[in-house]
Amino acid sequence: MRKQIAAANWKMNLTLQQAEKLLDDIIAKPHELKQHQQVVFAVPFPYLQMAQQKIAGKQNVFIAAQNCYSKKSGAYTGEVSVEMLRSLGISYVIIGHSERREYFHESNELLADKVNICLENNITPIFCCGEPLNIREAGTQNEYVEKQLDESLFHLTGEQLQKIVIAYEPIWAIGTGKTATSAQAQEIQAHLRSVIKDEYNHVSDIIPILYGGSVKGSNAKELFSQPDVDGGLVGGASLNADEFVTIINSLK
Ligand code: PGA
Repeated sequence: MRKQIAAANWKMNLTLQQAEKLLDDIIAKPHELKQHQQVVFAVPFPYLQMAQQKIAGKQNVFIAAQNCYSKKSGAYTGEVSVEMLRSLGISYVIIGHSERREYFHESNELLADKVNICLENNITPIFCCGEPLNIREAGTQNEYVEKQLDESLFHLTGEQLQKIVIAYEPIWAIGTGKTATSAQAQEIQAHLRSVIKDEYNHVSDIIPILYGGSVKGSNAKELFSQPDVDGGLVGGASLNADEFVTIINSLK
């Protein structure tokens, strides 16, 4: 079975003490991970090392950064390189979250560079894509998201692409409480898989495609039950231990 992933995206939330408590609370609650299931915590940069230590020795649990810079090293004050993340033993990085695209003007082209440098350093990009409300209302979401994949991922070889995780996150569903229906998520995620199949053939069967956008304990099972929804990238609900553990336990 394809990898199924419950990924927490804490965004710019929590103090160090709150972050430690949340991780302790989640780890203490019963959740059994099957071999193909993973839990990922995308925490703010200053907490990466603490989080790595907390999950040390836990099977199938990983820490992610929420961003990285596209250059190897040098005079880029305030930025964090993939080599730095690698030196902490970080295995995943969220690339191209819609908040980065919107507030920090990250283009598909820049994101292609970020994907490249992650792969060069053996870090798995969780590549985010998704359309805004006006595009959904115009019914052109498939083309919009295809373009995001085309411009940031389709320069990769099949061998490289199979190391990527994709997170489809419709912007109108992020932090709004307005979740896509499981049918809407399945429809577009199946479409994305078929687009990948056209370009890369069987590689499309390997790539986990997560859904993100107001995933909660109460809707996770229904969303994750869809054949092309391989788990979720979870913002708000990942800040609550009970909610997030319910989401973990909803993985198929
Ligand atoms: P949300 O955020 O779960 O709060 O909608 C998801 C995300 O932005 O990754």
